[in-house]
Amino acid sequence: MRKAVCPGSFDPVTNGHLDVFARAADQFDHVTVAVLINSTKSGLFSIEERVDMLRECTAKHSNIVVDTFHGLLADYCSEHDIKAIVKGLRAVSDFDYELQMAQMNSTLGVDTFFVATNPEFSFLSSSLIKEVAKFNGDVSGLVPEVVQTALVKKFTAQA
Ligand code: PNS
Repeated sequence: MRKAVCPGSFDPVTNGHLDVFARAADQFDHVTVAVLINSTKSGLFSIEERVDMLRECTAKHSNIVVDTFHGLLADYCSEHDIKAIVKGLRAVSDFDYELQMAQMNSTLGVDTFFVATNPEFSFLSSSLIKEVAKFNGDVSGLVPEVVQTALVKKFTAQA
């Protein structure tokens, strides 16, 4: 079975991420969306909230599961017999850092496969979504509905 992982913070998941997951799920038998637990960085959404939203958004894909990890991604891959990392490349600005990580992960035993982000989403990032949503900007069409609702709720509660 060909297994892949799509790792990230997903704080929150965007339609750009979902596009990458769907394309990974077309190419691999089994895809794990793995949310990094980073104890030094607290996000807008808790890990549980991110995982719940990811599960809801990926439910229609029978070969996608959502999990969490901490420590090295390469260790998670080796523990789960995953041989491939799949990531989206949005623009040249992503390239240097992504290449560095891919080369390091390759030396740690796991190869990275990049998919060119759908141009519709190439400007999209979780940080920008949070900034726009914070000031009541319209993010519909850029994030799934469950995320849109959660953003409104979160920023209303913080106001
Ligand atoms: O969504 P992000 O925050 O850009 O995702 C970055 C992520 C989680 C893919 C990356 O930080 C990661 O893999 N962290 C785990 C620690 C690790 O393996 N570091 C070495 C990378 S070469």
